[in-house]
Amino acid sequence: MSNSCLSYDDVLLIPQYSTIRSRSEIDLTTDLGKGLKLRLPVISSPMDTISETQMAIAIASQGGVAVVHRYNTIAQQSRIISMTKDLSVEEPLQVGAAIGISGDYLERAQVLVATGVDFLCVDVAHGHHILMKEALEALRHEVGDNFHLMAGNVATLSGINSLADWGANSVRCNIGGGSICSTRIQTGHGIPGLQTIIECAKTDRNVKIIADGGIRNSGDIVKALAAGADAVMCGSLIAGTTETPGKIIRDKDSRRWKLYRGMASKEAQIEWKGKYASFEGISSTVPFRGPVSDVLEDLEKGIRSGFSYSGARTMREFQAKAQFLMQTSAGFSESSTHITRRDW
Ligand code: XMP
Repeated sequence: MSNSCLSYDDVLLIPQYSTIRSRSEIDLTTDLGKGLKLRLPVISSPMDTISETQMAIAIASQGGVAVVHRYNTIAQQSRIISMTKDLSVEEPLQVGAAIGISGDYLERAQVLVATGVDFLCVDVAHGHHILMKEALEALRHEVGDNFHLMAGNVATLSGINSLADWGANSVRCNIGGGSICSTRIQTGHGIPGLQTIIECAKTDRNVKIIADGGIRNSGDIVKALAAGADAVMCGSLIAGTTETPGKIIRDKDSRRWKLYRGMASKEAQIEWKGKYASFEGISSTVPFRGPVSDVLEDLEKGIRSGFSYSGARTMREFQAKAQFLMQTSAGFSESSTHITRRDW
């Protein structure tokens, strides 16, 4: 049995001597390889309530990137890619697209690449699987050596190593840790999110790590990067924003909400396939939060402050310097805001 199983709340980073005078001295650029470079190490999840055209444009404009979901026709998905790529902006925006590992996935990949997608994300719940091996090998043959392939999800060192050996350049790490996931409840499988990153970061392969799911604030992003992630993937953190697909829902008190659901939820499966198999996610509504640019700006400020507390100006420097310590549950209570509030 593995003897440590850390989650984000189990740890803190030790503040260190810093010579950084302003957060603007910090460079958050992350190079994911094969031409995929981000100024902000944040990627939006390939979910039908998160990543379509508006999200792709907004997040790429701020230095991150979207992975456009695959729960659509090939024509619909490639239209989203071309609308993002075709904007008349100075520097073309980057955008990725999700594909599966069966059915039309190869044809989908060919059309998306022809449309100009910057990278493909082979998107399945359990990525350490023979079908992933076959798909990655076929895709690598199809797109050649210089095209970025992201794949996942995995939860182990053996998983990330296999996907790298099969042709992935970056791997989404974490199984069942997302806010809308019920995989661990339904199947009993998974590894806490931070522990997953710590394990996957032991890889000796030339592969980048995407910490995916369960990231709730900029502090979690900073901890994921410190543990060895090269970027994070977020759903709930940017759910409910103006740029997510879907309408604003008003309740009887005129409060505004938007839908956010797991792609393996009953609701999503019924909408896209007309029926559901086993379900491993839930559907929820989250408060409407306005433009995603505001959320991303706050996250960026938080990450920059995080680097500053470790005295690091770049991702590489941060990962070399960052030092974790475990906190007790009393420490965790102290770390959370804990004033006794009175609501007037
Ligand atoms: P957050 O915590 O950012 O998580 O909302 C988003 C990530 O959750 C994954 N995902 C799912 N996992 N059942 C799962 O177990 C699902 O239905 C589901 N839908 C999305 C995915 O990795 C996403 O990036």
